[in-house]
Amino acid sequence: MDRVKTGISGMDEMLNGGIPTGRHVALYGGPGSGKSSFCFEFLYQGAKMGEPGLYITLEETTEDIIDNMKNTFPLLTETSKLIEAKKLEIVKPEKLDLEDVANLLEDRITSNGIKRAVIDSSTMIRLSFQSEVEYRQTLFEFLSLLRNLDVTTITTVEATSARKEEMRFDIEQFVMDGIINLYNLDREDRRVRALEIFKMRGSDHSRDLVPFKVTPSGIKVYVGEKVF
Ligand SMILES: Nc1ncnc2c1ncn2[C@@H]1O[C@H](COP(=O)(O)OP(=O)(O)OP(=O)(O)O)[C@@H](O)[C@H]1O
Ligand SMILES: [Mg+2]
Repeated sequence: MDRVKTGISGMDEMLNGGIPTGRHVALYGGPGSGKSSFCFEFLYQGAKMGEPGLYITLEETTEDIIDNMKNTFPLLTETSKLIEAKKLEIVKPEKLDLEDVANLLEDRITSNGIKRAVIDSSTMIRLSFQSEVEYRQTLFEFLSLLRNLDVTTITTVEATSARKEEMRFDIEQFVMDGIINLYNLDREDRRVRALEIFKMRGSDHSRDLVPFKVTPSGIKVYVGEKVF
């Protein structure tokens, strides 16, 4: 099976080599759980491996994303260079519309040969729908559009709670090929970051809940370690 390496330390080991090529993964997590950082590094590492990537930001401005990521990851020093070389493109569509997002993807695949893309986050789109049924139908249509495109995507979903026990099972969990959950676990006097691969269709993967850290040189996933 062809796989797309995330390039995130420890993550490809968890994924048994990477995300199956052409699949669509939901990245679930509460506020500040590290969703945008994970997505950004996925594209950054891909760009460094020669695979152009597109970051579609639906909430923050492109400038905010770039500033935040440069501050979060001061040792990932090639961001500006990769953006200039069009290996890393960050775009904010004018409208919150999944059809626009699909068109944008299609255009960049044709014009720039992007191989990986990120949609951050789907929650605004969800909120723009009157009913769950309508959102669900549109999401299905969007995914069938995506399946015709030669691209591997990660879409972030804001979990309603940061607590592992309270994580809700939303529509995205059923329609996406894979689900990765990021947690900010509550401990007596601190919070601990942990992640798990909840599902990845057609692929073996780790089922462990493992600790991770956001460090200046990137995300570190501590495979084989226990969460305390
Ligand atoms: N240099 C750094 N070193 C360690 N941790 C950092 C650093 N910069 C940011 N962080 C942590 O990363 C978190 C932000 O992660 P990120 O923005 O990726 O989360 P998110 O899930 O996208 O959040 P949101 O729900 O606001 O979109 C911050 O809350 C902060 O705790
Ligand atoms: Mg974010």
